[in-house]
Amino acid sequence: MENEYKKSIEEFNKYIKKFDMSNDKVSHKYYHTFRVVDYAKDIAKSENLNKQDTYIAFLCALLHDIGRFKQVKEYDTFYDKKSFDHGDVGYEILLENDYISKYIQDQESKQIILKSVKNHNKYKIEDNLNEKELFFSKLVRDSDKIDILDKQKNEINDNSTTIDEDVIKAYKEHRLFKRDGTKRNDATEIVKNLCFIYDLNFKRSFEILKEKGIIDRKLNVLKQHISKETIDMFER
Ligand SMILES: [Fe+2]
Repeated sequence: MENEYKKSIEEFNKYIKKFDMSNDKVSHKYYHTFRVVDYAKDIAKSENLNKQDTYIAFLCALLHDIGRFKQVKEYDTFYDKKSFDHGDVGYEILLENDYISKYIQDQESKQIILKSVKNHNKYKIEDNLNEKELFFSKLVRDSDKIDILDKQKNEINDNSTTIDEDVIKAYKEHRLFKRDGTKRNDATEIVKNLCFIYDLNFKRSFEILKEKGIIDRKLNVLKQHISKETIDMFER
């Protein structure tokens, strides 16, 4: 099994060679990928997955953002609405000439990985997935969100003192905020980011957030800039 992991990482690195690692956007997504891999393995362990399923979890994470590299190269943006849906394109890249076979051969496993790549960035997971496809889609979504929560939006640099109402509403309703392309102030971006916790599926995901102090860090930043009344409003 060790060998499979090694071969898959080599294959992934071979794919990445087509892109410019000196471009910050490319290297950012490359390192994000491997942090997501670590979270996926951590969750897999906590769920007592067997060796084969742990390897599937690893591949779902390794390949989840494969569409991002093409996106940066062709559009120089991570904004899907201005380019393409990077989950859908990742799915297509893996299907093209059966490229996914370079990572795994078993048909059922391939389907699980394809579905989880396609679904990782959607507001909601599609209906009609089978039990395993759904499980691994959730696993990669959690792993991805943990890294985004950790790495993105941890500072307020624009002196924002307010949080947009529609984002507070999503937070209070315990749901993800649907991205709409509107430019938000930093405080609002932090709350948008915090909404991710309402779309986590595994107990271990919450433990990781807690262990790393990720949520407290964000709340502290907010508390330094936003009035107590506003904080109270969405903390309640
Ligand atoms: Fe992604």
